[in-house]
Amino acid sequence: MPKIPDSMTALETAAKIIIEGGVVAFPTETVYGLGANALDPMAVARIFEVKERPSFDPLIVHIADLEQLQVLSTSEDPRIGKLAEAFWPGPLTLILPKTDRVPDIVTSGLPTVGIRMPDHPMALELIRESGCPLAAPSANKFGRLSPTRAAHVERHLPEVDYILDGGTTRVGLESTIVRLESDGFLILRPGGITREDLVAVLPESAKTVEAGSPEAPGMLDSHYSPSKPFYLYRPEILGRIEPSKAGFISFQGEKPATFLQMRILSPKGDLKEYATKIFSALHELQESEVDVILAEPIPETGIGIAIMDRLRKAAHPWH
Ligand code: TXA
Ligand code: MG
Repeated sequence: MPKIPDSMTALETAAKIIIEGGVVAFPTETVYGLGANALDPMAVARIFEVKERPSFDPLIVHIADLEQLQVLSTSEDPRIGKLAEAFWPGPLTLILPKTDRVPDIVTSGLPTVGIRMPDHPMALELIRESGCPLAAPSANKFGRLSPTRAAHVERHLPEVDYILDGGTTRVGLESTIVRLESDGFLILRPGGITREDLVAVLPESAKTVEAGSPEAPGMLDSHYSPSKPFYLYRPEILGRIEPSKAGFISFQGEKPATFLQMRILSPKGDLKEYATKIFSALHELQESEVDVILAEPIPETGIGIAIMDRLRKAAHPWH
């Protein structure tokens, strides 16, 4: 990583690297992103290289204002304005028809592009200072845990040109991804902004929302995996593993055995608090001396739906 000249702030350094075609890890309110100039195909290619990401998995483009939206999308759908007003900056990604300015490498050749305005002052400042929208996936190796701290990025992506440290991310879980359809919307990836939140802003869509949640391309069944065996807890599993060698992630303090490591994520039962801590807890346990990691399932309401989606994808199936 380059040394910061005394006369340059971290943000200016990061922006300079982006302008020169480099990749910079930066904080957003959800997780850390691995950013490059979205309009420069060579720079975006470096993201795929550093992340070891397959080219069929398209990237989300991050903007700092609505003018940049015009550069990226041809859509004049009035629902965009309503959603932007309600949720941007914030953890909502909209899948919209793309303009010719968006290189194919960003969208994996799809005619649509994922766009969001992150709710983090450093992210917004970096986009402004660089003068371009930033294509950025989560700043982890493909298929691995998303980073919620700069130290996670440093450990797992040492190849990155620069890391902007903005402390621990506030939401802790990736954005909700939504595709607008002519008569409703589809949630491609659940997140902190729930179906109910969306319907409150687009009440006319309520009836036409599809019940299922088709996946975004690249959202494989197995994803977000810790580097150690990870299982969703069921009582029967205690007969198969050694609790004295296991790490256990508890929601409010439930303790079905004596484990080597134990993390209680929200004694008061707050799912939002759990969301902010789950990736960090998984990072800590995979780095610790445990052989296996277990997580207690949590209630699937509100952000709990998104958390359980991530935990199921991270978990090994067991029979
Ligand atoms: O909170 C977030 O969304 C974080 C921060 C960094 O913004 N980013 C993130 O990116 O989670 P990533 O690459 O880990 O996940 C992006 C997802 C992928 O599953 C991809 O398939 C989907 O977005 N996606 C991107 N463009 C798409 C498109 N045009 N159509 C459908 N899905 C798309
Ligand atoms: Mg990711």
